[in-house]
Amino acid sequence: MRSVYLDNAATTQIAPEVLDDMVRFERDGRGNPHRGLHAFAGRATIVLEAARTRVSSFIGGSDELIFTKSTTEGLNLAIMNLTRGLGAGDEVVLTIFDHHATLLPLYEASKRQGFVLRTIGSAQRPTPAAIVDDARAIIGPRTKLVVFPHVSNVLGTVLPAKELVEIAKSVGAKVLIDGAQAVGHMNVDVGEIGCDAYAFSAHKMYGPMGIGALYVKRDVLKGWSPMMYGGGMIEEVERVKSKEESNDIKVRYLTGPRLFEAGTPNVTGAFGFMAACHYVDGIGRTKIQKEESELARYLIDRLSESPSITIHPSRGSIVSFSVRNMHPHDVAQGLSDHGVMVRAGNHCAAPLAQSLDPAGTVRVSVGVTTTRADIDYLIDALKEYV
Ligand code: ALA
Repeated sequence: MRSVYLDNAATTQIAPEVLDDMVRFERDGRGNPHRGLHAFAGRATIVLEAARTRVSSFIGGSDELIFTKSTTEGLNLAIMNLTRGLGAGDEVVLTIFDHHATLLPLYEASKRQGFVLRTIGSAQRPTPAAIVDDARAIIGPRTKLVVFPHVSNVLGTVLPAKELVEIAKSVGAKVLIDGAQAVGHMNVDVGEIGCDAYAFSAHKMYGPMGIGALYVKRDVLKGWSPMMYGGGMIEEVERVKSKEESNDIKVRYLTGPRLFEAGTPNVTGAFGFMAACHYVDGIGRTKIQKEESELARYLIDRLSESPSITIHPSRGSIVSFSVRNMHPHDVAQGLSDHGVMVRAGNHCAAPLAQSLDPAGTVRVSVGVTTTRADIDYLIDALKEYV
C-alpha cells in the first residue's frame, strides 16, 4: 500500500541531508559544550553556538536565541516571564486561533494571578482585516501582553503580525508570537515584525524532534528567570563563611540565553536545526509558500466536487474540512486504512476547531514533498466514504 503523508502541520519528515549531518556530528566525536577543554567539547561548543547564530538569522533575529525542547517550552518560558507581576485590573489579549500551548499556560497564570484573558478573532471571519478590527476594539490601556500564532494550525490563516504588534505597542503591551506553523512555510523577519518574543521548533521544518527555539529581544530578556536550574548557567558558585548555616552559598548567574539552558544541551538537535535552516532556505521560502498554496488550492477544488464535504475557510498549506454525517476521527481512520495520513479532531486548538464543527475537523497539511498525485490519491481514498 502506498503511504501518503499529509500531516505536515503536526510534524514534517526529517530531510535526509539533515539526518546525515546529525549522524556525522555523533559519529565524529561528541563532547559536552561549554564544559571541557578537550577537542570534542570544543567542537560541540562551536557547533552549538554556530547553530544559535544560524537559527536566529533564519527568522531575522539579531537579539537573543534560547534553545528549548519544543515550541511549547519556549511559549511557557515566555508566558511565565511576560505575565510576572500582572494581576487584577490587567488584561492579556489572545486570539481564537491560539494553540493550547499558549492558551493553557495563560489560563493557569490568569487563575493564579487574577488578570483577565480577552480573546479576539472569529472562526467564521478569519481575515487579517477582521482580526485587526477586533484588536483595535479590545486592546487598550489595561492590555499588558498580546499573544497570537503567526499562522493558525487549524485554518492556515496568516495573522497580521506587524499590525497587531503596532496596536499592542501603542498601549505599551508586550507581544509574544507562536511561530510553529510559520517558519517552514514563509519568510519570517522578527526585526520587521517588532515582537518581543517568537517561539518555533525544528521538527515542523524538516529538522529533528526535541529541539525548539525562543527568540527574545535583548532588553526584554534582562530580568527573566529560568524554569530550570543546574549546570552550565553560572558565572560562579561559591561557599562563603556564614553564621547562618542555611545560607552559605553565593551564586552569580550567567546572563543571556545560557541562563535558560541548564543541563547538557541537545547539540545534535541544534546541529540538525541548523541543517534544517539550510535545507529550507536552499529551496526558498517564497517558492515553498507559492507551491504549497497552489497544492492546497488544488485540494480545495477537488474536495469541492463532493456535496457532502464542507471546507472551512482555509489558507496556505492547511485545509480543514468536515464530512456530513461522519465523525472526523472516522474519516481519518478510513484514510489511514488506505495509507493516507491526516489529522482529525480539535488539533490542540479546541475553541477554534469546535466553533467550526463541534466534533472538530479533518485537517490536511501539505509540505515540500507533497505532489498533486498525493492529493489525487487522497481524493480517491475519500470517495469510498463520501
Ligand atoms: N500543533 C501540532 C498540530 O497542529 C501538533 O498538529
